[in-house]
Amino acid sequence: MFFHVLTLFPDMIMDGLNTSILGKAMERGCIRAEAVNIRDYTLDKHLKVDDYTYGGGAGMLMQAQPVYDCTMAVLDSIVKRVADQTTENTTGNTTDNTENVLKDETKASCGNATDAKKTRVIYVTPQGRVFDQKTAQELAKEEDLIFLCGHYEGIDERVLEEVVTDYISIGDYVLTGGELPAMVMIDAIARLVPGVLNNDESAQTESFGNGLLEYPQYSRPRIWHDKEVPPVLLSGDHKKVEEWRLEQSLIRTKERRPDLYEKWRESHL
Ligand code: ADE
Repeated sequence: MFFHVLTLFPDMIMDGLNTSILGKAMERGCIRAEAVNIRDYTLDKHLKVDDYTYGGGAGMLMQAQPVYDCTMAVLDSIVKRVADQTTENTTGNTTDNTENVLKDETKASCGNATDAKKTRVIYVTPQGRVFDQKTAQELAKEEDLIFLCGHYEGIDERVLEEVVTDYISIGDYVLTGGELPAMVMIDAIARLVPGVLNNDESAQTESFGNGLLEYPQYSRPRIWHDKEVPPVLLSGDHKKVEEWRLEQSLIRTKERRPDLYEKWRESHL
């Protein structure tokens, strides 16, 4: 999976993503990420990318031209990469049919330069639908994702109408820019990509994987501050441990997230 982040602060993105688990996953080639500087695409001789809003009001707006040209350049690069992969695949000695089918599907989903909207372009904005684990799972199926990060008072509506496929927020509060929300979403999506986490199972069993919050967990020592690890976890009885964990998940979800608990109950009882 390849994440493309269109931003005025590329260092912020790459510094964030190159760290820790995602950085390691990039080194192993499980995921790729690039931060593309929108300013590199401005035609303004002073490298300006923003201007006052028509109709008045405080703050500056990111202009359509650099955002549009930047997005088109990234879409073109995706189309080119996929075409190269397909050529490699058809001219190479690969006899593995599955691989060819997969590559063809990838090509179809990216389309070509004139059919650019097939790659999802996510505008990171408090005006979007709220990101959750289900959205992360849905987006993790894509081969490429483009995140468009706004700054100042936002982006000229006309370019959004032309390039954006999804408007997504990370919650009902306003941040100074789209970079942190983009990184939050990339983190949540990337960890669902096979190979990113060491233990594939941990993405399945954690909070929200089954619609519930995760059960409490303990490590050594067995007694700390007079608090003992629940004896069932030391019993070696896997069935009992699973039952205890489900029970704890239910108690915790009911207490902390009654909304999720009700949803779970409706679909399970
Ligand atoms: N940009 C500013 N605030 C945001 C939020 N809450 N979600 C997504 N993008 C944003």
